[in-house]
Amino acid sequence: METRGAQTRIEHIGIAVKDLTAAIGTYEKLLGVPCYAVEEVPDQSVRTAFFRLGESKIELLESTSPDGPIAKFIAKRGEGVHHIAYAVGDIRTTLRDLASAGVRLIDSEPRKGAEGLSVAFIHPRSASGVLTEITTPAPQPHD
Ligand code: CO
Repeated sequence: METRGAQTRIEHIGIAVKDLTAAIGTYEKLLGVPCYAVEEVPDQSVRTAFFRLGESKIELLESTSPDGPIAKFIAKRGEGVHHIAYAVGDIRTTLRDLASAGVRLIDSEPRKGAEGLSVAFIHPRSASGVLTEITTPAPQPHD
């Protein structure tokens, strides 16, 4: 993915876990900060837990369905890093720019992700094997 000015930072890193409650305990110990939100995202068949780390976040993802994308990922590759999400200024403009640059998109239109944000996924084949998410976050105090 080419660098573009509107792409401000890594918004979060998504980690696929088998047991969200256990993983929250693991990451609270590891990071030294409490999980600040647990939320179900029915559209993606996941339950998520978030940790704030400066201007980025860690998102733990547990499947709510045996057929969900996280369940399939864990069955194939085990627990681990699932995706990287970048903050972009305007998700629709970015999707249009990426599509015209020949980037393979999973979502050509934004959909609803955790925290009420619009998100879209880019195919790992267009990102050196990394499932890549873009999102337009709500402004933060320092933005
Ligand atoms: Co995400």
